[in-house]
Amino acid sequence: MFKYKCLNPIAKVGLDLFSDEYERVEEFAEADAVLVRSASVHDLELPDTLEAIARAGAGVNNIPLDKCAEKGIVVFNTPGANANGVKELVIAGMLLAARDVIGGINWVQKERENPDIAKATEKAKKAFAGNEIEGKTLGIIGLGAIGVKVANAATHLGMNVLGYDPYISVDAAWNLSRSIKHIKKVEDIYSECDYITIHVPLTDGTRQMINQDAIEMMKDDVVVLNFSRDTLVDEDAMLSALENGKIKRYVTDFPNPKVANAKGVLVIPHLGASTEESEDNCAVMAVKELVDYMENGNVNNS
Ligand code: MLT
Repeated sequence: MFKYKCLNPIAKVGLDLFSDEYERVEEFAEADAVLVRSASVHDLELPDTLEAIARAGAGVNNIPLDKCAEKGIVVFNTPGANANGVKELVIAGMLLAARDVIGGINWVQKERENPDIAKATEKAKKAFAGNEIEGKTLGIIGLGAIGVKVANAATHLGMNVLGYDPYISVDAAWNLSRSIKHIKKVEDIYSECDYITIHVPLTDGTRQMINQDAIEMMKDDVVVLNFSRDTLVDEDAMLSALENGKIKRYVTDFPNPKVANAKGVLVIPHLGASTEESEDNCAVMAVKELVDYMENGNVNNS
């Protein structure tokens, strides 16, 4: 029997796994165990009773890991549980960057009363012409669950895929995805790719990794996609690269006001994992991990 607090709404299919013997509390201070999605735990006083925090999602930058370690609070996340949702949006982002679908939709909205819309369409077809992604080179930085899924999907779309991850070997990368050409230096991703997507956790080592130096190494007209964390990208460097045309498009899942209105930016409100399926998977995995730890002491963060 333990008391749990949900800091964010978590999918019902996960909450249903808590049997009646567990008490859901309203106050954080009363909790033995906490479930959280992306709300920040940083400014909250960690109760002495707290034994575990489960994050229904991959990134744990909203949790004060050092403080938790000091207090012996175990932190779980749900790696891979939302990887499919994110993968699908990364592919959609790449296609939206290549083809001006959004420009086309906006144009139809504006012209919908135009009796000569059929004639005007001929001009629109030229104005909104785009490119194809087949045959282009995609660089993936970070070959975790999401990076590997993106690699496999992009290969099926006919892209050449280069992958970089300092923490895995060439053999491991090959086993994860037979379609990745494993690159040993991130610099080669920057210099060889038409599309670059980042799938790494936010740490002191990765913060602002896409900075002025990285951008200078990139090909002209590159498309950069960020579905990981906004501060992985130095926004001033990004803004000037968009302004001078070095970067053609920045597709970001983070509506940071500084870049949101800039030319060439496609921005969405952190929707990568916002699918029913991903939310269900994360909730189920997080609750199972939490209960298994609280009941049996098992640390099962797979
Ligand atoms: C994650 O870290 O898994 C993502 O940011 C998804 C989310 O929590 O919305």
